[in-house]
Amino acid sequence: MSVPLNPIPRAAVECRRVTRRFAGQAVLDGLDLDIAPGEFVALLGSSGSGKTTLLRALAGLDAVDEGQLRVPQALAAVFQEPRLMPWKRAWRNVALGVRGGEAKARALAALAEVGLQHRLNAWPATLSGGEAQRVALARALVREPQLLLLDEPFAALDALTRIRMHQLIISLWRAHTPAVLLVTHDVDEALLLADRVVVLAHGRIAEHMPIRLPRPRQVAHPGFQALRERLLSLLGVATDHPPAALHPQPLSRTAHP
Ligand SMILES: Nc1ncnc2c1ncn2[C@@H]1O[C@H](COP(=O)(O)OP(=O)(O)OP(=O)(O)O)[C@@H](O)[C@H]1O
Ligand SMILES: [Mg+2]
Repeated sequence: MSVPLNPIPRAAVECRRVTRRFAGQAVLDGLDLDIAPGEFVALLGSSGSGKTTLLRALAGLDAVDEGQLRVPQALAAVFQEPRLMPWKRAWRNVALGVRGGEAKARALAALAEVGLQHRLNAWPATLSGGEAQRVALARALVREPQLLLLDEPFAALDALTRIRMHQLIISLWRAHTPAVLLVTHDVDEALLLADRVVVLAHGRIAEHMPIRLPRPRQVAHPGFQALRERLLSLLGVATDHPPAALHPQPLSRTAHP
């Protein structure tokens, strides 16, 4: 029997008609979303639109009421706050949940990758916000995830630290090639990092916007501003018109079936 030379890889994430209700209100309402292996997707949407609800469902932290979710077994999530165990040193936080005798060596390697080889024995309370978030990233990386879920991981950081974190996340993504789903409120961050930006509105993905700008991305690139304006308009910012993403009509014909 012949074996296809280039079998089409299955999606890293498959969401089919996913519905999640709270007190009878559908926050996710028949949502469809696919993410390809190794694809970097940024998820935008107004506050309360259901971004964290979707991430928690994908991470297995919360159930859905209807529909199907398919995710790889090897997944890891990083949230806005680092969620480190205060009574464990940095490397022990990273090694948490890693089985086998190599747990410490793997934790040290992951901390080195995020530039924290000098803070292995630090207590979480002594870390800066950026350092703590890098420990959280190392803890995610050490699991060698095929899917990395990031829920506003840079939101609490100062502007300079954010820029450094952007560079770090891109180099880690290149080295480990997980699929990434990054929730952010920052349109520029989405455009600087993602292969595709998706917008969540009314419980569904209202827009899929592939970003074909060359990497490393530059805000000054002529194509950047046009995409930025389009996204801001979809989110109802910097426009006199009602938010397009909140318009009841479908916005994109490119949405996955
Ligand atoms: N456990 C819960 N019980 C009841 N309602 C919830 C629960 N979790 C989320 N919700 C509601 O679901 C809606 C979506 O919440 P979610 O946290 O997913 O929004 P979000 O898009 O992540 O917002 P933000 O950008 O502010 O983080 C909100 O109205 C929220 O109050
Ligand atoms: Mg949220």
